[in-house]
Amino acid sequence: MTASRSPLLDPTWRYVEKATLDDFRAADWALLNAQRAPYYSDQQARQALRLLAASSEDPGFGYQVNNFRHCVQAATLAMQDGRDEEYVVMALLHDIGFVACPSTHGEFAAQLLAPYISDANTWLLERHMYFQAIHCRELPGTDRYVRDRWRGHPAFEATAEFVAKYDQNTISPSLPEAPLAVFEPMVHRVFARTPRQRPLPP
Ligand SMILES: [Fe+2]
Ligand SMILES: [Fe+2]
Repeated sequence: MTASRSPLLDPTWRYVEKATLDDFRAADWALLNAQRAPYYSDQQARQALRLLAASSEDPGFGYQVNNFRHCVQAATLAMQDGRDEEYVVMALLHDIGFVACPSTHGEFAAQLLAPYISDANTWLLERHMYFQAIHCRELPGTDRYVRDRWRGHPAFEATAEFVAKYDQNTISPSLPEAPLAVFEPMVHRVFARTPRQRPLPP
């Protein structure tokens, strides 16, 4: 067993000297809350970017580019098309969970960004994997028209467009890939937005 403490982000910060939340008192929470905001403003975007960057050299299973390059290609194309910053960040992170949670990776990205992006873009992220089916001819067991259940939704066309223009086609080694550093300030600005409160789960 180790008794060593993890370092604090700022060496001038202090630890809460309690071992359980039950023991925390008002002064402890005040200390924690004072250090929490600057911690997140520095670390949240950094951690999201690290999650993505950690997969940059990962091998794939058949696509000509790995998931990291697919994400970068999608963001690069969106940026070149003059899409707004939120859209570019959404494109960059839309498949951040593609390997860790393949069957729910749309919801994963949606939950990551939901407090900071529009409802329409959250909706898009949640469903992009289902909208992709229309592009998957001859994929066994796939209902290509599964997206039709959402036809008429205000975000339907935008989701179909995202998948057609930036998702189903960004799997080629010959496409442009901007350095991740180009997107880093954008990711930081999106995560620096005031988070929207989400309702409690049912
Ligand atoms: Fe995806
Ligand atoms: Fe994708």
